[in-house]
Amino acid sequence: MLREIELKRGLKDVYIDKTMVSFIDGQVGKLLYRGYNIRDLAEKSSFEETTYLLLYGTLPTRRELEEFDATLRSNRSLPKEVVQIIRLVHKAHPMDVLRTAVSAMAAFDPETRDNSLEATRRKGIRLTAQAPTIVAAHSRIRQGLEPISPNPKLNHAANFLHMLFGKEPPDDETEIIDKDFVLHAEHGINASAFGARVAASTASDFHSAVVAGIGILKGPAHGGAAEEVMKMALDIGEEDRSKEYARKILDSGGRIMGFGHRVYKTVDPRSIHLREEVQALGEKKGQPKWFRILSKVEEVMRPYAGRGIFVNVDFFSGTIYHLLDIPQDLFVSIFAMGRIPGWTVQVMEQYSDNILLRPMLEYVGPMDLEYVPIDQRG
Ligand code: ACO
Repeated sequence: MLREIELKRGLKDVYIDKTMVSFIDGQVGKLLYRGYNIRDLAEKSSFEETTYLLLYGTLPTRRELEEFDATLRSNRSLPKEVVQIIRLVHKAHPMDVLRTAVSAMAAFDPETRDNSLEATRRKGIRLTAQAPTIVAAHSRIRQGLEPISPNPKLNHAANFLHMLFGKEPPDDETEIIDKDFVLHAEHGINASAFGARVAASTASDFHSAVVAGIGILKGPAHGGAAEEVMKMALDIGEEDRSKEYARKILDSGGRIMGFGHRVYKTVDPRSIHLREEVQALGEKKGQPKWFRILSKVEEVMRPYAGRGIFVNVDFFSGTIYHLLDIPQDLFVSIFAMGRIPGWTVQVMEQYSDNILLRPMLEYVGPMDLEYVPIDQRG
């Protein structure tokens, strides 16, 4: 006699463990990293400081931050073999290239087989430093250009833009990308962090866990939505077409990308900061229309608020990248670069009190069929 099964499809609302990393209240739109409100971190912190906070659990002193920043800056270069691999696969989507390069990094990291917390943190720091180099090198190689070496005089965000475009970015653009990284750095047990934790729960290595996270983040229901939002905005083209366009998608049963969230049943707090940036950057670049287009789409989505469907982090981030001349297919890679500290700390937490993550499926297929030899099958 089979016991009664309570199905939790999609693991909705299922708590699988305790965490000391992020607190998310989806009803009021509150997000804390290590107890600190994302609002304060977005406005006052930097990606380097936020990464330290996530990986060590406390805000650094000035001296600790300087040392940590120096470690990040000195770990940005890639093994030449990984650059060769990027050249070999350069025609693939940037997320596939990032996934492949991160996987290859395991072959060159001196501590790949060490799953201790200290080694995992060190690997996370190295990969946080190296991920922008991978993304920027690929972007150059596929344009027929040579990769640009990291510049240790620049901070994390500025160095990324420098390696991507071959020139030092203006301070305000560096600040926008820095804020974007802070906002994307960690988000509890979302789908990609869950995947990373599943890998860690088998005592697999850190790079395998991050590779799982990258593969999962790529999907349009997760990090891939930013690219889809920008495609939609470009397709709409003009502000006065926005409402009709959005209504058509909804009337045909489609979804507006950048809306809805498994946890937030109100405005995603991360989107508040990005909205401000899109508006200001659009004005500065003489392209205010993207913000206006998105605002009209939001108006169409207003009735969906009653069903808990609000704007999420991906609705505005793509437009920021577009305004900075970043190609659309790099959007989700930028998300991934920012999320490496989050995946690292999730993997560390999983290792620190490990239990195999292994749910169940209810079997609903046929039972006890008779095996018919192949020459007797009709
Ligand atoms: N537009 C229109 N309707 C929506 C949207 C949307 N963006 N999102 C959800 N809905 C509707 C669904 O059609 C469904 O309606 P129904 O009950 O009548 O069938 C209902 O809301 C619930 O949707 P689910 O898919 O069951 O909700 P779930 O929590 O599983 O999905 C998800 C969350 C995947 C993010 C969903 O809202 C979605 O597909 N959004 C668009 C993609 C997107 O923006 N993803 C980025 C999320 S943020 C991030 O990952 C960083």
